[in-house]
Formats: sequence, structure tokens, C-alpha cells
Amino acid sequence: MQQIIDLTVAFVQDRLKFAESGHDWWHIQRVWNNTKLILQHEEANHLVCELAALLHDIADSKFHDGDETIGPRVAGEFLTSIGVENEVVEHVQQIILNMSFKASLGEVTFHSKELEVAQDADRLDAIGAIGIARAFNYGGYKNREIYDPNVKPKKHMSKEEYKNTSAPTINHFYEKLLLLKDKMNTSTAKSIAEHRHQFMEDFLQQFHDEWNGIR
Ligand code: ADP
Ligand code: NI
Repeated sequence: MQQIIDLTVAFVQDRLKFAESGHDWWHIQRVWNNTKLILQHEEANHLVCELAALLHDIADSKFHDGDETIGPRVAGEFLTSIGVENEVVEHVQQIILNMSFKASLGEVTFHSKELEVAQDADRLDAIGAIGIARAFNYGGYKNREIYDPNVKPKKHMSKEEYKNTSAPTINHFYEKLLLLKDKMNTSTAKSIAEHRHQFMEDFLQQFHDEWNGIR
């Protein structure tokens, strides 16, 4: 198992050499770490979970004309080439497909404990201190304002709307990031999310206080 993981790490690091900072190798490493943290308390196949975490963003469909099949295909070819058994390869492919864009629109119906773990690990990287850093990094890249008290956050947004909004970055917390803790699948991720969520709440409180010159 260690050799398979090592080869996969090298493959992913090489593929993501020029990736944008939201989905670079460090994002993958954090999601992998989150996966191992969750697995300390959840019963699931470690090899499948870790491979899925490592390979889940190797071909972001946003940069491939929305083609959701590239990631699973590239991952599958790689895993087969290093001799991983078919059953594991196919499971990892299903997870990658389900973690992508269409899956969140409800078009895919695959379920497994390993998918739950990998998805939770990815979502945990969108909240807490890292989540705050990633959000402002994304907003800066898009030249968004950090905050505008006149632009109210929307209550319900589709994935399309998230992508196309030009709202200030603070709105993203209310529109998505603060909702993630209740979307965690496993109870372990829920409890990790609790802590990271509170950190975002504290940050927002302080942000608004400073904005208003209160302290
Ligand atoms: P995922 O890889 O989970 O699909 P995205 O590509 O949607 O994530 O986003 C990557 C990172 O950029 C995440 O940390 C997310 O919170 C952040 N992000 C996405 N959309 C926005 C936005 N409108 N404003 C601020 N941050 C955003
Ligand atoms: Ni990811």
C-alpha cells in the first residue's frame, strides 16, 4: 500500500506543478491530511479514501470544457499502470466523478462510505482558517471587493450562481462556507467542522466590528 501511495503522490505533484493556488498540490496534501484525520475515527477502506483524496482534482472540469470524465479516466489509467486492482480503481473513479460538478447537481447516484470520507475531507479544506485564506485569495484573483454592506448575501444559490457571482468575498461566507458544517457526511468530520466553523464566525464578528470602528 505504501508504494502505491508514494507513486500516486509523485504523479499528482507532477500533474499539479502549474495548477492555480485554489487547487494546487498543497490543497491536495491538506485534503489527504483531513482524510487521514477522519479515518482515525471512521470505518472505511484506507487505500480507496487516500487515493481518492490524492486524485480528486487532477483534471478540474472547469478547465476542460466541463468534461467530468477526464479526471476519472486519467486517474484510472494511472492506477492501472501501477498495478492497482480493478475493484479499487473503479471505486476511486466513482468517487472522483461524484465529487465533481455534476454530482452536486444530483445527476450521479453512487454512494459509499469512502466517498463520504473524501467529500468531507475536501469540504473541510473550504472552511476554517484555510477556508478564509482560500476565499480571499479567490476573491482577489477575481478582483472582487472584500465587503460591501449594500450587497446582501443571497439565501439559496445554485452551483452556477456561485461560479458567476461578482459579489464581495464576505458574501461567500454566508452563501456557502457557513453552510458547509451541516453538509458533512460523517460524524467525525462534523465535529472537526464545528471547530473550524466557530473560527469563521469569530473572524466575521471581528471583521464587522473593525469595519464599524467598534474595536
Ligand atoms: P471546489 O474545489 O470545492 O469545487 P471551488 O472551485 O468552488 O471549490 O472553490 C475553490 C476555493 O475558492 C474554495 O475555497 C472556495 O471557497 C473559494 N471560492 C469559490 N467561489 C468563491 C467566491 N465566489 N468567493 C470567494 N471564494 C470562493
Ligand atoms: Ni478539492
